[in-house]
Amino acid sequence: MIQDPVVIVGSGHSGVAVAAGLRTRGWEGGILLVDAENELPYERPPLSKELLKDGAPDESAVLRKEKFYADKGIGRLAGVTVESIDRNGRTVLLSDGTRQAYHRLVIATGSRARPLTVPGAGLVGVRSLRTRGDALELKRLLVPGARVAIIGAGYIGLEVAAAAAAKGCEVTVLEFQDRVMSRVTSAPVSRHFEQLHERHGVRFVFGAAVTSIDGRQRAERVTVADGTVFPADVVLAGIGVLPNQELAQDAGIDCRDGILVDGDGRTSDPAVYASGDVTRFISPTDGVSRRLECIQNALAQADRVAAHITGQAAGEPEIPWFWTVQHGVRLQTAGVRQPEDQVIVRGEPSCGKFSVVYLRDGRLAAVDTIANLADFRTAKRLIAQGARIDPVLAADPGSPLAEAISGTPNHSDADLAAARS
Ligand code: APR
Repeated sequence: MIQDPVVIVGSGHSGVAVAAGLRTRGWEGGILLVDAENELPYERPPLSKELLKDGAPDESAVLRKEKFYADKGIGRLAGVTVESIDRNGRTVLLSDGTRQAYHRLVIATGSRARPLTVPGAGLVGVRSLRTRGDALELKRLLVPGARVAIIGAGYIGLEVAAAAAAKGCEVTVLEFQDRVMSRVTSAPVSRHFEQLHERHGVRFVFGAAVTSIDGRQRAERVTVADGTVFPADVVLAGIGVLPNQELAQDAGIDCRDGILVDGDGRTSDPAVYASGDVTRFISPTDGVSRRLECIQNALAQADRVAAHITGQAAGEPEIPWFWTVQHGVRLQTAGVRQPEDQVIVRGEPSCGKFSVVYLRDGRLAAVDTIANLADFRTAKRLIAQGARIDPVLAADPGSPLAEAISGTPNHSDADLAAARS
């Protein structure tokens, strides 16, 4: 047994980044990664994109090669679950019945697909997508002519819709709200992606509350609240995620739809940190308490945890960013929009390249960019600087976004010059 190492629960993007970050920052003690999945930690974004494609290899990219863990002296327990935490004794109980002592514990358990609870959700052919195993199983079901009903028009539902349509499936998306991606974007972006999917043969049904899935053993049809029935051989639920916080919660660590952490990833127990999708924290950029489901946050928080454990200074907080690719069209988002933000469309969506700028109290809060890397990069910088934006100038796609700064009273001339550079 390794003596009192940093024990990291979960080897997704965040857990592996904590381990790597500890070594980069000179941590010489033991590091042990414990994960329920019995494989080398892998990249998650390709699972709903490249991995589903015909001809794509079944292996998704690994986060680090096996050799990395050996070279860095990072121990791995794969296929092992942490069952409980004894905070007083600073040990965890593992599913193989052994106890593992820790000097510091990092909970990076991520999130799981929100389960569908309607009658028939357990029938064969009803799937969700979170792990590589889920993706491979779904890939097997997406055969030409298969009738695929997707419940939920978020990133997951839409990415799978694109992959299924490309494979010749008949795709129907059933969404509770009145447009796609309503949690994360505004109506103009939703409309753009709806049209894109419709051009590829995807059918949308909005305001659709699924009431049951029926079939003998396999799913055969999906029924929604108004009684309409949709034949389906495959049903994918992409209805959001839940934080895997139970381990912390059962140990009495403060949780509220996520493990509560401060800016250094510290939980209510000074010896226990949490990092990635499983956490909830107050955003340093806008003061809002939220969970962030993105790789940028998984990596940034991991670095802050590694910095704090090693007693070093962490880097400046980064603006969160997100992306999705559907039918080859890339949506990149910087910052986190709120429904009450002022919405400014920059460019003509029908041209295929445009941005949507979100202003809060006159300041740039977020931006969605479609095939517009320049705006994405500029916006990240301007959001971090709290730049005030002139809405009229921002609406002009012919003028660089940085030219839309209308004066930033809380910033010096030097800041302004830097923002415009
Ligand atoms: N019936 C129909 N639609 C529903 C239902 C339901 N019972 N419940 C939820 N929805 C819809 C929501 O209105 C929303 O549009 O499902 C969609 C879920 O979208 P997201 O919350 O974005 O979740 P999801 O697409 O599952 O993605 C989860 O995975 O790609 C990662 O980190 C990324 O945050 C993302 C996460």
